[in-house]
Amino acid sequence: MKRREFILGAMAGGSALWLESNHGALGQKFLSLMPTLQSADSRIEVLTGEPIATIAPEIYGHFAEHLGGVIYDGIWVGENSKIPNIGGIRKSLVEAMQRIKPGVIRWPGGCFADSYNWRDGIGPKSQRARHTNFWRDASEWPKDAPDGPWKYETNQFGTDDFLRFCKLTGAQPYLAANLRSLSANDFDEWVEYCNSPPTTTTLAEVRAANGERDPAKVRFWGIGNESWGCGGNFTPEEYAAEYRRFTAWVPKFGVDLAFVGAGPNGGDLDWTRRFFIKLAERRAVGNMWGWALHHYSWNVSGGRTSDWRQGKGDALNYPDEEWYELLHEADRLESLITDHWNVMGEIDRTHRVRLVVDEWGAWYKPGTEANNTHLLGQQATIRDAVLAGQTLDTFQRHADKVGMASVAQLINCLQSLFIAHEDKFVLTPTYHVFDMYSVHQNAKAVRTVFSSPPLDYTRNGQPATMRGLAGSASLRGRQLVLTVTNPGLKGVRETEIVVRGAVIRSVGAITLAAGDIHTHNSFDDPHRIEPKPVAVAQNGNLIVHRFAAASVTRLDIDLS
Ligand code: AHR
Repeated sequence: MKRREFILGAMAGGSALWLESNHGALGQKFLSLMPTLQSADSRIEVLTGEPIATIAPEIYGHFAEHLGGVIYDGIWVGENSKIPNIGGIRKSLVEAMQRIKPGVIRWPGGCFADSYNWRDGIGPKSQRARHTNFWRDASEWPKDAPDGPWKYETNQFGTDDFLRFCKLTGAQPYLAANLRSLSANDFDEWVEYCNSPPTTTTLAEVRAANGERDPAKVRFWGIGNESWGCGGNFTPEEYAAEYRRFTAWVPKFGVDLAFVGAGPNGGDLDWTRRFFIKLAERRAVGNMWGWALHHYSWNVSGGRTSDWRQGKGDALNYPDEEWYELLHEADRLESLITDHWNVMGEIDRTHRVRLVVDEWGAWYKPGTEANNTHLLGQQATIRDAVLAGQTLDTFQRHADKVGMASVAQLINCLQSLFIAHEDKFVLTPTYHVFDMYSVHQNAKAVRTVFSSPPLDYTRNGQPATMRGLAGSASLRGRQLVLTVTNPGLKGVRETEIVVRGAVIRSVGAITLAAGDIHTHNSFDDPHRIEPKPVAVAQNGNLIVHRFAAASVTRLDIDLS
């Protein structure tokens, strides 16, 4: 079963050398100029004179859907809870989020968005409507999962609560409109409720009566979600017509509204091409800020199956083959970005529209959720950290194309940064990667050249390879940050690092690594895996670093 079929079902109920493939002749030229170290087997060149683009803080985005334990038990614990909270929102979550400077949070879905009526989630909590949650009939529910707000939505967490959560964490809100089952007028009025100035409209007064006098000035709006599946099962042409209708006139209230279209499932270039052609027929490309791409890493079967359920592996117990297969799947994002970008450019020749990867992460089979109410909840190991690091690096290498992204999902679901149940709360290795990488935000991405031997592994009984080290770099003034993932399971990678166009003054490094590749944090052992400072050698303008196996590393390089 393919993912598209799964979503429809839910509705009803490498390279030889990294250098060669990414940087071609330019990289070869620089490498030939390099001093070499006898023992090093890998090299990284940072080309400070070759800027790519400013790294949008929105790349460091999150996703919170009304799905399983994300909202209820995750974010929202209720005002009267014994669990420390800020107006009902889990306090430890807010504090941890503040540390990583979240760029944006997407809400309320996902598939849930196209069944959600924003009016149900405003006003006195005791009077809010109860409705069947989109995910009520999902086949992944643990057998003994009880009824509750995760199955019958109580709307205790609505627009005002979400906007408050964003304000507390410092993130920009990114709201997903219901295109499948509400009208364009409902969408206009949601914008009006959030953004109209005090006292100007009835909805501004309703908002004030609900405790929010001032407008939230929400800029980012998703126009539906996965409209090829749960969001309406449209053809690209049908969706383009709906998109045009929803965005043709929306009240601005002085906000530079940024609309995001529901883009393809993974490599479906046909969806992108046909949508853009249809949009351009009515000169509506200018009404789009971003085009959303979803990519999950799930198939670890080594080519044995493409079935959506059979192809998945376990979050905690996996052989080496599944480690490599999963990370290999995540690496596909690089070609997905460039392929969709090229197709978009056939119509949008000046590339006004950015790519928005608003769902990405690892998706395992059920069984490791922290509680039976956490549909699609899963544990997270150092493998997820490497996946997160390589994905963020990929976005940064394409900072000129990717304007926003959100990892799926924030808490208690898929590749979470947090796992929580009642008063228990833990940071996952993915959280630590966001923490390590957040310093890249708003810095200038600069080109890097990685040369690292491919890694050998056995795939379905046959020899296979995966690329070696990969990463990205950014520059802010004289501060250079280089982040690197090593997916290799055996031995360290001794690496020469050269900075072109600048003189190195000093260097420091921190690493997230673990002796056992299944290492994870748990409620009982919450600090098992955390980033640690590591030694790094500098010799004039040459840095030599030993990248640990299965690791994510950040080097902080001061330039003079
Ligand atoms: O993140 C879980 C689900 O995956 C989302 O609701 C949907 O958009 C995607 O298929």
